[in-house]
Amino acid sequence: MICMADEILIERIDQIGVIRLNRPDKLNALNMATMERLVNALERFDADGEIRCMLLAGNERAFAAGADINEMADASMVDMYYRNQFARWERIKRVQKPIVAAVSGYALGGGCELMMHCDIIVASETARFGQPEINIGVMPGAGGTQRMARAVGKALAMDVVLTGRFLKAHEALTMGLISRVVPREHFFEEAVRVCRELCEKGPIALRLAKEAVLKAFETPLSEGLEYERKLFYMLFSTQDQKEGMRAFQEKRRAIFTGK
Ligand code: COA
Repeated sequence: MICMADEILIERIDQIGVIRLNRPDKLNALNMATMERLVNALERFDADGEIRCMLLAGNERAFAAGADINEMADASMVDMYYRNQFARWERIKRVQKPIVAAVSGYALGGGCELMMHCDIIVASETARFGQPEINIGVMPGAGGTQRMARAVGKALAMDVVLTGRFLKAHEALTMGLISRVVPREHFFEEAVRVCRELCEKGPIALRLAKEAVLKAFETPLSEGLEYERKLFYMLFSTQDQKEGMRAFQEKRRAIFTGK
């Protein structure tokens, strides 16, 4: 354990930067202090040469039950505008290394949006997903309408966003919202296992591959294909490409150094 701030717990498991949300009595509701610490921790790990990927988790009962309603209940439009809380979310978008989410229990509102900012989502069978903002007189504001629509398509996104209903883990998996579902007792270790797998890959290839997949949501197909091709060519200037292909030919495991 290298740091224990109130709202988050940070540790390293080998080359994995682990961040756990830690407001259990508030179901990890994302207040501004938590978000600030979380984003700072992600940026620090992203800049840390020893770290190859990040793991973001809550606890068994909740990944995060949304933005902290108590911080917003009395805010005016002007307060919210000046608060500019979504600037922090933009910083998460700029993180280059892969982020694996380990989700159990509630991933609602901002919690679901945070999860959708992650790259691979491992969920426990007990996980529940939703954008219930409609039930408290608002709507998603940290990308929920946009990322949900891109993840699951219009009809299901409308259902989730307009009714505020919760999805069970297998439903979310079938819809394409999450990557894997495992028994509750294994959700964290499975996420660690996925991270360990990522740690074995070429770090530059991992980052560029993440960038290319995300580009698919920003560009028309022809532009995205062009972008992908350029990143692919770029990788031929890395030692990792030579090592990876040579290791294949020599029938041994590649050791990637990120150079
Ligand atoms: N913001 C602030 N506090 C929250 C919260 C949120 N988004 N979600 C849960 N909490 C707090 C509760 O107020 C409660 O605190 P208290 O014990 O001091 O009263 C504590 O977390 C436990 O929640 P509780 O509602 O008692 O648990 P539950 O098991 O009965 O219900 C939920 C769980 C997730 C269904 C319910 O907490 C809920 O609907 N949360 C809000 C979800 C939401 O609308 N998110 C979008 C916000 S924009």
